[in-house]
Amino acid sequence: MSPVDLARYVRDIADFPKPGIVFKDITPVMAAPEALEAAVDGLARYARPLGVDLVIAAEARGFLLGAALARELGAGFILARKPGKLPHETVRAEYKLEYGSDALELHTDAIDQGSRVLVHDDLLATGGTAEALCSLAEQLGGEVAGCAFLIELSFLGGRGRLGRHDVHALLRYDEE
Ligand code: PRP
Ligand code: MG
Repeated sequence: MSPVDLARYVRDIADFPKPGIVFKDITPVMAAPEALEAAVDGLARYARPLGVDLVIAAEARGFLLGAALARELGAGFILARKPGKLPHETVRAEYKLEYGSDALELHTDAIDQGSRVLVHDDLLATGGTAEALCSLAEQLGGEVAGCAFLIELSFLGGRGRLGRHDVHALLRYDEE
């Protein structure tokens, strides 16, 4: 077991990006070698038994740990990006954010039929982003093996939107 207390590396920023929102800043997790290692190791510990072929993560913060996690699992990494960023043919999923709405796109050839795909993001809030990632994976014939997050804001109910899937978070906050 890692002796690193990851929660100590997550910084609360009040009123960002707008009044009333408490932003979970994970830049200290990324900056400290022991926290970065503990985060990737913790996510891999959950995901390894799932037999993952690919990790899918969302631009931008999902990329931070997503590619490192894929490497740790011996899996590939596929990029869900904001509209217009991917150069090849894409599929799209629209989603609602905690604040605002957006869409994510994935290359149509990113997933081989029947591949086991781990959905990853830094943070599960309302679940819109993760639901879009599941939708993209399934549109292309992938099988969602599980969903792994660094942080879950459980009071926003995202887990409920991912009901069919197994969900794991290294850090859970039950109130703001
Ligand atoms: C944040 C966070 C998750 C998402 C979670 O991303 O990184 O991807 O919100 O919210 P949800 O569960 O309500 O969908 P954001 O869209 O702010 O962009 P970023 O990753 O590019 O910073
Ligand atoms: Mg994000």
